[in-house]
Parts: sequence; structure tokens; C-alpha cells
Amino acid sequence: MVMCEYNAIGVVHSPFKEARGTPIQPSRAKDVMGTVEIFDEYVEGLDDLDGFSHIILLYHFHRSGPYRLKVKPFLDTSLRGLFATRAPSRPNPIGLSVVELVGINGNTLSVRGLDILDETPVLDIKPYVGEFDDREDIRTGWLESARGRTDVADDRFE
Ligand SMILES: C[S@@+](CC[C@H](N)C(=O)[O-])C[C@H]1O[C@@H](n2cnc3c(N)ncnc32)[C@H](O)[C@@H]1O
Repeated sequence: MVMCEYNAIGVVHSPFKEARGTPIQPSRAKDVMGTVEIFDEYVEGLDDLDGFSHIILLYHFHRSGPYRLKVKPFLDTSLRGLFATRAPSRPNPIGLSVVELVGINGNTLSVRGLDILDETPVLDIKPYVGEFDDREDIRTGWLESARGRTDVADDRFE
């Protein structure tokens, strides 16, 4: 087995202190503002990022509970395979959110569209690029008949 160890490059500052009530995706958090603080040793890597309207945040779900391989996702009432969901409790609890980059001031990124808890460790940042990341003819599996309608989380994955 390959062991992977990462150091956080920064931390999220968000209005959400607990899972309950936190938007379940950036698409449900259009007006939620927050910041990403980048630690000093990585700040030079922010050069040229300000030309991008959106960024991909990769982060550690530091408050998630133990994982199960079958879960009831927020948007359904049936059990689904974990890897067919975006549930935060995972063997490697890595989150991915595409957020709007509103501005950069020194080591601080202002972002809009946070579905992330306060104090979440950030693992990486990448520019969102339509040419690379958009796809046509998308299928979305169980979500096409999903019965859940919520925009915010409860505490099922803590
Ligand atoms: C369904 S996940 C989706 C996250 C991300 N957009 C993704 O697709 O990987 C979003 C939920 O994860 C939970 N969450 C966010 N940050 C977390 C953290 N640091 N630790 C544990 N749970 C977190 C909140 O309940 C939030 O509503």
C-alpha cells in the first residue's frame, strides 16, 4: 500500500461552524462569501491566479466521521455506493469545490460559493478551466431520479 502524507497549504474561513445547515454544494451556496488563507511559504504560488474567475479547492474534511461504503446521500432516500456520492465521510476524506474567485489580497483569497466548514485545511488550489473541466453529454446516474430536495446538510456524516 502506498502511504500519502500531505501538508495543508492554507485554511478556509467560512461562516459555517457545523455540518447542519451548511450548503451541500457550491451551486446551493451562491451568496456565501468566505476566505482562503494561504500559509506564507506557498504565497508565491498564487501569482497569476487572479486572472481566473473560478478555482478548484481541494481540502481535507477534517470534521467527517467514520466512512461507510454505502450511504444515504443528502439528495436521496436510498443507500448508494459511497464513490457514487459526494459524502464527506470517505476512506480519504478529500473534498472538491469549484468556487468563484472574487479577489486576492496578499495571502488571502476572497471566494464565493462555499459549502465548506470553517477551519477546513486546504490541500491544493487549481484554476477552473472550461476547456479542461466542462463536459458534454453528461449522465448523472441515481441523481436523475433522486427524491431528496434539500439545499443544506444535516449531521449524518459527523
Ligand atoms: C456533500 S459535501 C460536498 C463537498 C464538495 N463540494 C465535494 O463535492 O466534495 C458538503 C458538506 O460537507 C460537509 N463539510 C464541509 N466541510 C467539512 C469538513 N471540513 N469536515 C467535515 N464535513 C464538512 C458539510 O456538511 C457540507 O454541507
